[in-house]
Amino acid sequence: MQNRREFLKNTAMLGMAAALPMNPVFGREMKQQKEWSFGVIPDTQWKTNMEAPFHGTAIHVIDAINAEMIRQKVDFVLEVGDLVEEASAIAFQTRAQHNKVLEDAEIEFYPLRGNHDSRNRINHVNCGAAVAQYKSAFPNLPGTPGNGGSSPDLPNAVGMTYSFTHKNGKFLLLDTFSLVDDGSEDGKAYGMADYQDWIDEQLKMDDHQFAMVFAHKDLLGQDHKDNVFSDNKVDQNIPVDVQNAFFASLQNNGVKYFICGHDHMYHHSHVKSPDGKSGVQQIICGSAAHKFYTPKAPFLERETPIAQELNRIGFLIIRVSENGIKTDYYSTEPFGDVPHSPTWTLRDRYGYFFNGDEFGKPEDSLRQFVRPAE
Ligand SMILES: [Fe+2]
Repeated sequence: MQNRREFLKNTAMLGMAAALPMNPVFGREMKQQKEWSFGVIPDTQWKTNMEAPFHGTAIHVIDAINAEMIRQKVDFVLEVGDLVEEASAIAFQTRAQHNKVLEDAEIEFYPLRGNHDSRNRINHVNCGAAVAQYKSAFPNLPGTPGNGGSSPDLPNAVGMTYSFTHKNGKFLLLDTFSLVDDGSEDGKAYGMADYQDWIDEQLKMDDHQFAMVFAHKDLLGQDHKDNVFSDNKVDQNIPVDVQNAFFASLQNNGVKYFICGHDHMYHHSHVKSPDGKSGVQQIICGSAAHKFYTPKAPFLERETPIAQELNRIGFLIIRVSENGIKTDYYSTEPFGDVPHSPTWTLRDRYGYFFNGDEFGKPEDSLRQFVRPAE
């Protein structure tokens, strides 16, 4: 079996056209270019106004970010959940309709659900119906039959938790919200323990040079103290064995970034496992909504904060070159009640080289970090 470096060398020698897979969403051949990029949109839930034209999704923010994604010629856009305020057919369809400009520009959109996408507090919907509404708006995702990628072999996880490859990258999107109608009010969600074997299998495959892992909830939130492992807001280390296994899997397989939302702020940090043996960079990628949160104690010692920005609307563009990854965070003043074409400001830039070195000059970015007093 060839390792990743050999895989890339071999594909380069063969000529990329021979090695490139078909795009899983639109079935077209991928663009061929040495440098490429993709965008990451944070939460786009919009107020509790479920009336037209919003239907609980931040249509004007989405339109403005999509315009910038097109201008910057990203290959695809990924959203880390809370697409809408309350799960409903019209809400998901409205969110999906605002991707039409991306589709016209042949830019794929890869969604992931958040807590708001899995339930409706106004008009209760059971989890099976909520999943069906979501899938109807976002069909043919990787992991579903005939669309490439992979999903865990778990009931109803197909196309909800999934992986896909794009050029030399691999992307794992983890849905940790209710997927199985087990008769309970909220239904059953899968946890990281359910996904761990599939995560290991996906990360160990020789089909990528780098991999990134995405989920809605955080490793360690700043306002939110629930996290991707547990809803327990008091003990952020549980379940300890599950957390240790997840962090070890990411580190042992060379994953540098865990990218998430939920906290409605931009926050870059390094987070270690509860046992301190492994770690990963956490990027809480901002807010694309009306809502902004403020960090509050307690903060755990196993997190080292690096950079943070509050109370602005933003997104990431991650650029991939032959040598490594460059991560750009852009933001602007809050807006969204009416159509708006903001000026986006590059507020943070950092990254890593595939040889293991990292970069991010303080003078080039907002690399200062101020944590509120405890
Ligand atoms: Fe959210």
